[in-house]
Amino acid sequence: MKNYIIADEWNIIESGFDAHLNKISESLFSIGNGRMGQRANFEESYSGETLQGNYVAGVYYPDKTRVGWWKNGYPEYFAKVLNAINWIGLHIVIEGETLDLAKTKVSDFKRVLDMKAGVLIRTFTAELNSGKKVKVQATRLYSIADDEISALHYHLTALNFDGTIEIAAFIDGDVKNQDANYDEKFWDEVTQKQEKSTDYLVLRTKKTEFEVCTASNTTIFVNGNLQNLKSGARDKYLEKTATFSVKQDSTVEIYKIVATISSQNYEKTELLDAAKTSVNKAIAKGFKTLLAEQAEAWATKWQDSDIVIDGDVAAQQAIRFNIFQLNQTYTGKDARLNIGPKGFTGEKYGGSTYWDTEAYCIPFYLSTSPEDVAKNLLIYRYKQLDKAIENAQKLGFNKGAALYPMVTMNGEECHNEWEITFEEIHRNGAIAFAIFNYIRYTGNQAYLAEYGLEVLIGIARFWKQRVNWSADKNQYVMLGVTGPNEYENNINNNWYTNKLASWCLTYAIEATEIVKVTAPDQYARIQAKISLDEATEFAEWTDIAENMYYPYDEKAAVFLQQDGYMDKEQILVKDLPASERPLNQKWSWDRILRSCFIKQADVLQGMYFFEDEFDQETLQRNFTFYENRTVHESSLSPCVHSILAAKLNDEEKAYEFYLRTARLDLDDYNNDTEDGLHITSMAGTWMSIVEGFAGMRVRNGQLKFNPFLPKNWTSFSFTVGFRGVALKVSIAAGQITIINHSGETVTIGIFNELHQITPGEQVITYQELV
Ligand code: BGC
Repeated sequence: MKNYIIADEWNIIESGFDAHLNKISESLFSIGNGRMGQRANFEESYSGETLQGNYVAGVYYPDKTRVGWWKNGYPEYFAKVLNAINWIGLHIVIEGETLDLAKTKVSDFKRVLDMKAGVLIRTFTAELNSGKKVKVQATRLYSIADDEISALHYHLTALNFDGTIEIAAFIDGDVKNQDANYDEKFWDEVTQKQEKSTDYLVLRTKKTEFEVCTASNTTIFVNGNLQNLKSGARDKYLEKTATFSVKQDSTVEIYKIVATISSQNYEKTELLDAAKTSVNKAIAKGFKTLLAEQAEAWATKWQDSDIVIDGDVAAQQAIRFNIFQLNQTYTGKDARLNIGPKGFTGEKYGGSTYWDTEAYCIPFYLSTSPEDVAKNLLIYRYKQLDKAIENAQKLGFNKGAALYPMVTMNGEECHNEWEITFEEIHRNGAIAFAIFNYIRYTGNQAYLAEYGLEVLIGIARFWKQRVNWSADKNQYVMLGVTGPNEYENNINNNWYTNKLASWCLTYAIEATEIVKVTAPDQYARIQAKISLDEATEFAEWTDIAENMYYPYDEKAAVFLQQDGYMDKEQILVKDLPASERPLNQKWSWDRILRSCFIKQADVLQGMYFFEDEFDQETLQRNFTFYENRTVHESSLSPCVHSILAAKLNDEEKAYEFYLRTARLDLDDYNNDTEDGLHITSMAGTWMSIVEGFAGMRVRNGQLKFNPFLPKNWTSFSFTVGFRGVALKVSIAAGQITIINHSGETVTIGIFNELHQITPGEQVITYQELV
């Protein structure tokens, strides 16, 4: 755990340079725009510890897999998002000495991520070995307004010398992925082109043959005078250089305005021309206008998604940081893109899509973005349905059964651990649940006919084939699975997976009935495509849903994680010595597998999804039982516990779990922020406030709130968009204020009472339950 980020409501601030923290800060100060993004690497040369990272969404490489014993059914590759062309590079030489913060004396160092304006700013003074001092302010952005554009401004002042400065402003595609399995480089050069002030580099990924063109425009001013630039080049590298004399107090300003486009959106033959058009448009605007556009675009994002917390600056900073990162990771413009667990902030998890998107991220985008944003996340899976069917076929399923991959870039499975790849099939359920959740929130039933139903039927067919009848139990069972709790594998009858499976079977039938009535033509189209044998298949699905086995412990009166869970030695987390945690770093895997400790919410995840089925007493018993055994070693875990604790009116616990998710990265809680940020769990932080503290739910097509105010806060407020209505909800002690920004009256539930909220502001008092 670290504590070096300065608390501030709108900014993430690091003051003072500590090389040991650099990789953590590179993650924390990452910027992006949904289409691309990067770690906060320095512009100038840096010979210290760094993880270089520039990423273009959807541009990946199928790295040949590396496993010990090959198992039939394993995918051939592990996809990874690629470290792409580094466009920020500046090589600065002052009287023969390279500016490199690892080799100079650094003072007044400050890194600020201005989340309101969407800009990263770094300032420092560096004293070179020669005693020459320079002061620098570097500002950069990834444009949210035009997602092909990124730009930087580097302002250097010669503080105490006259002399010669050489600058090379470069773009460099000779980069590697640190996680490359065989230490290979993944890019080939296609072409390069140099104009007076703009360089163009086109690279192609090996195997996948994505082409990416980076067009970088450089201008350098010394004391306001534009410098002549020379061009230089080598393989995958282009530069613009200038050498000039400065006097004490001279200022040097470098601007780089860069367009990055790819063959995902343009014909390969058009890349150069398109990049030229794009970069020229941005050059014509100039850096200042790009900054202004950026602030404007972020203002819109904040208007729709901000959460304001009064009375707790650290909490305010944390929630804004989470929201900022989510908004710069996914903007929902392109249904081929998704949300990697680390977004654009590191290589871990390969930039691939996990069940995190459906289980954790959808609610955030549903409430804070136009409806199409969450819809595009669902359509992503719809488009990959054929691949999910192929994936299931590879494993021996048939007749249109679909098993979505646990980890994917393009719909194919690309993860190779049998206990995850083959056994964490619960992801199929989360994908179905997300469809239900989307329709529950938006009321958009038409989605079922257009896209959803085919996915639901493919998933239902999978569950039908994955269960088997146990003559012994006289019920259906599901053998050999891994639940979200990865601290035990190959278990039988994971309660969560069984629950999800039977829910999916029932929901697929309900969804079919809806489509038949509401969109008969679409139903005929789907029927022709997938040949649903309603009579037989529905009877089978109903039979399974009605006769599924759910492990239960009579004595403790709790749903059981899985068969045989009570055979384990029942030790509680509170009795684990701190020195033995985190278990995944301190214990052998074998010991973890045999222990009763749970990595992340599992039964509780199911109770969260299907909460209306359980009364408070049942929830409380299960919560207490599992909370005592959960070590939360997945970042996705605490948010579910926080929401359920809030539901149980356990304010203290709800807040405690919220804190664990909210500042997870800012305080490097798990000692792993240097690998990148936990983007998908950030959506869980948002849920902890909106679904937890505010108790927001959608029931019967209406929003309802069961709020409480955390003790340390004076009030909190947030905006949600719901079925075309923008509502600002503010919660203070015993009082909820709703501003209805629309022209129509909406019905909102507060605790058990319905209120008609007319356009404008309405204050409602409530009795605190806790
Ligand atoms: C969790 C998974 C999750 C993955 C990516 C793992 O540690 O156990 O549930 O999908 O991280 O966030």
